[in-house]
Amino acid sequence: MKREIKITADGSSTIHLPDWNENYHSTHGAIQEANHVFIDKGFSVVSTPEVSILEIGFGTGLNCFLTLLEAAKREISVNYVGVEAFPVTTEEAAKLNYVSELDVAGKQSVFNELHRVSWEENHEIQTGFFLEKRKQFFKDITAVNQFDLVYFDAFGAAHQPELWTIAIFKTMYKAMAENGVLVTYCAKGSVRRAMQEVGFEVERLDGPPGKREMLRATKHSA
Ligand SMILES: C[S@@+](CC[C@H](N)C(=O)[O-])C[C@H]1O[C@@H](n2cnc3c(N)ncnc32)[C@H](O)[C@@H]1O
Repeated sequence: MKREIKITADGSSTIHLPDWNENYHSTHGAIQEANHVFIDKGFSVVSTPEVSILEIGFGTGLNCFLTLLEAAKREISVNYVGVEAFPVTTEEAAKLNYVSELDVAGKQSVFNELHRVSWEENHEIQTGFFLEKRKQFFKDITAVNQFDLVYFDAFGAAHQPELWTIAIFKTMYKAMAENGVLVTYCAKGSVRRAMQEVGFEVERLDGPPGKREMLRATKHSA
């Protein structure tokens, strides 16, 4: 599918899919949305010194990069698994402006490294931050009781309804550790009910600019 780099309202880039008229991030601001949904409502909630994170849709690597920066500040060790079936190319990654927009010039090589490292292998990107990128479809995830935090960042249900179902949330629930937390930008009632159906406790939280709400789901198994 054709992909184009585009600038969102906060100045940060995203990828646009003209065939679907869909974007990888909110047009109100890619960095703004990622910081709100995945860092403030997700990573910031975790209080353990070591965290295992699963990202549903590695894409531009923005969520991974923000997590890496935050983890270094808070001295948290992270095992990050990014699942992605249609990887961004090196040429596309080179056009993303996250390093300049975040004003972290010294981290350009680190951002490049997120994209450069091989798939299906674990890499220590910086001290205490391990990344494994898996080229895989979400439905093929088989992890059990592993992840403390899930960044659920699939395309919207209008284009990929199969990714917002009971079946996919069962896979997530199974993959998550006890008290694990899943965050997503989505706030649809049908998605919330699908999460509840598989056993998650679900909260509706205030959304990023341009969106009233988002969802956070916690696994409390018996
Ligand atoms: C909304 S984008 C978000 C990407 C990423 N989190 C970011 O910040 O750039 C969704 C991502 O899911 C990937 N994707 C879509 N369907 C998939 C599937 N069935 N299995 C694995 N990856 C998929 C897309 O290629 C895209 O990178």
